[in-house]
Amino acid sequence: PPVDIFDYIVFGATGDLTMRKLLPALYYRYRDGQIPDQARIIGTARSPLSRADFQARAEKALQNFVKPADLDPDLARRFLALVHYVSLNGAEAGSNWPGLKDLLAEAPADRIRVYYLATAPDLYGRICENLSTQGLVTDQSRVVLEKPIGTDLASADEINDGVGRFFPENHIFRIDHYLGKETVQAVIALRFANPVFERLWSSDAIDYIQITAAETVGVEGRGPYYDKSGAMRDMIQNHLLQVLCLVAMDPPGSLEADSLRNEKLKVLRALRPITPEDVAVSTVRARYGAGEMGGKPVPGYLDDLGENAVSNTETFVAIRAQVDTWRWGNVPFYLRSGKRMAQKSSEIVIQFKTTPWSIFPEKPAANRLVIRIQPDEGVMLTVSTKDPTPTDSVALRQADINIAFEKAFATRYPDAYERLLLDVVRGDPVLFIRRDEVEAAWRWADPILQGWAENKSPLETYPAGSWGPDAARALLAERGHRWHEDM
Ligand code: BG6
Repeated sequence: PPVDIFDYIVFGATGDLTMRKLLPALYYRYRDGQIPDQARIIGTARSPLSRADFQARAEKALQNFVKPADLDPDLARRFLALVHYVSLNGAEAGSNWPGLKDLLAEAPADRIRVYYLATAPDLYGRICENLSTQGLVTDQSRVVLEKPIGTDLASADEINDGVGRFFPENHIFRIDHYLGKETVQAVIALRFANPVFERLWSSDAIDYIQITAAETVGVEGRGPYYDKSGAMRDMIQNHLLQVLCLVAMDPPGSLEADSLRNEKLKVLRALRPITPEDVAVSTVRARYGAGEMGGKPVPGYLDDLGENAVSNTETFVAIRAQVDTWRWGNVPFYLRSGKRMAQKSSEIVIQFKTTPWSIFPEKPAANRLVIRIQPDEGVMLTVSTKDPTPTDSVALRQADINIAFEKAFATRYPDAYERLLLDVVRGDPVLFIRRDEVEAAWRWADPILQGWAENKSPLETYPAGSWGPDAARALLAERGHRWHEDM
């Protein structure tokens, strides 16, 4: 069913995120009949564009980022009629606020308003202050914050305080688009709807766990942002820790937002601190050098940044994390993310322990459960079975029980933003991050970043198009473990 009529006001509307993710996601939901025709999408940014200019950009965004087969010209035209634009610098009190106020005043005062902040995070506080001074924060107003919330705990606190002065916590939606991914939510279903897994979900049966988000893209045009951020702040502190939470948490009492978020918080708080002194032992950081992708030579990170670039930023991280709880004992959680890697692949690998004793000539290989977040969304369980080749003894062979979701359910896998954008309108925070989660995640990340800043472990290099530096392999080999691609 369609959501209530809303006004979606996007700050930073000419940016990449709006074009690549937000507009296409809203188009898809419009196409599915979930957005009423009276709803409005109001872009704001500093550029002095007319409404028609911005609509033309939005149209181009749909052409570029919606699958051609899904783009119906008539439907697109009706969708673009929802799009408005106000040229406004949200961080400045003296900017064109009357323009936005007048436009908003054309709708009933109790209409749902979503202020989506897709600007630099250090502007969030000022934008909220201006919204409040202008009398634009109503009971029906919500604010969405894009990651990264700060660059460490102190700056995150400052941003959260800045926003929190004008919006109550239950009207603040901190987005982590990994939680909007169908397959990430499927982890909850897999674990808590299938006793066959959950009963084995602990150090009793599990040897180690890996969570990987590997990308083939480099930094593209995002150098200025990325170089200040790096893989730890861009991916690990938020996306990978959130996935880790869903894998490691205890069963929540219900699917209510706070029930789930309390359990995630417990995991974040149970993460064993990695002190600056520990970084040499438990972490690997690296950046890509020149290499080859799909048979073509590609430049290294420094060349991607531009001439004479100087940088100490990591584009790859691997970490051995521990969750200090009764359930997890000493089970390592290997987290890994990188740019310019061999394949685009986000997945969770649960490596089980093998049999305590073997009646077969060889020791059976351990079971392995792979949850493929993207692409090829699905679940695969590797089991040992009898080798059917005729011999005079019982030999074992490994085979996969494999579910490819798209095929199994014959359905389109929506982009994560589709679900999340409308959850904000519905006022459902279950897939958003609570303030204490952000804080706990930074509390764990900060000392690691500090150790790196003090050069307690070297910045390695890896060739573009590879699975990362040798040191990442060594991090697992120390315990007799292997990354999935080496199994
Ligand atoms: C974003 C990061 O949050 O996630 C990007 O800022 C990264 O650097 C992206 O490329 C990855 O998202 P996905 O959905 O493609 O895995």
